[in-house]
Amino acid sequence: MENREGTTVSMPRIGDKAPAFTAVTTQGEINFPADYEGSWVILFSHPADFTPVCTSEFMTFASMEDKFAEANCKLVGLSVDGLYSHIAWLRTIKEKIEYRGMKNVEVNFPLIEDITMEVATKYGMIQPGEATTKAVRAVFFIDPKGVVRTIIYYPLSLGRNFDELYRALIALKTADEFGIATPADWRPGDDVIVSPAGSCGAAKDRMDGKEDMQCQDWFFCTKKIDKDVVLKKVLKK
Ligand code: BEZ
Repeated sequence: MENREGTTVSMPRIGDKAPAFTAVTTQGEINFPADYEGSWVILFSHPADFTPVCTSEFMTFASMEDKFAEANCKLVGLSVDGLYSHIAWLRTIKEKIEYRGMKNVEVNFPLIEDITMEVATKYGMIQPGEATTKAVRAVFFIDPKGVVRTIIYYPLSLGRNFDELYRALIALKTADEFGIATPADWRPGDDVIVSPAGSCGAAKDRMDGKEDMQCQDWFFCTKKIDKDVVLKKVLKK
């Protein structure tokens, strides 16, 4: 892909290995993604410290950190601000900001300083049509083998929906664990999608009701997986 100056820029795509980097963070240096091998990780960027939408997002994400940890998922934030700005902002959040019943919120996950924009550029977080000096709100879901599995981008003005990020994580893990796909708006306990029949015989068997699934047509079959079966498999894994 070319930017407006005609320079080729690259960014990871779904299925790619997450680009490696080392970085200074509010929790010390990290070697990414090597330090996170064996865990899911959500690497996300925000435009700037000391801004209101980002503050509401950090408070929300920090309040959900234990919930993500229970699903074996770690959080890593990034902006193109410096370390001391990050530290001051996180201290201010804890000491002064109250938002939607959240207060005294401590952000314990690492926040990367990226003044040179090296990491943001590697991950396509700088999108010049939106802003040349700030990262957009990018979200990368990276699996325990360091592979990018989902990418979501939001512009500067739009705060993310963190329930959706959690839902997406659980859906990704459920698809991996059970070899299924998840339909629109799926949540644990809802029916899942069985992959389409791969032969005329399998299509016939499905339509003849020989398989343990419900078929609208040969290509659209669903099955039940109980919520507790899903959660037992995908949490702490
Ligand atoms: C915010 O987080 O409030 C924000 C950041 C950059 C541009 C616009 C809003």
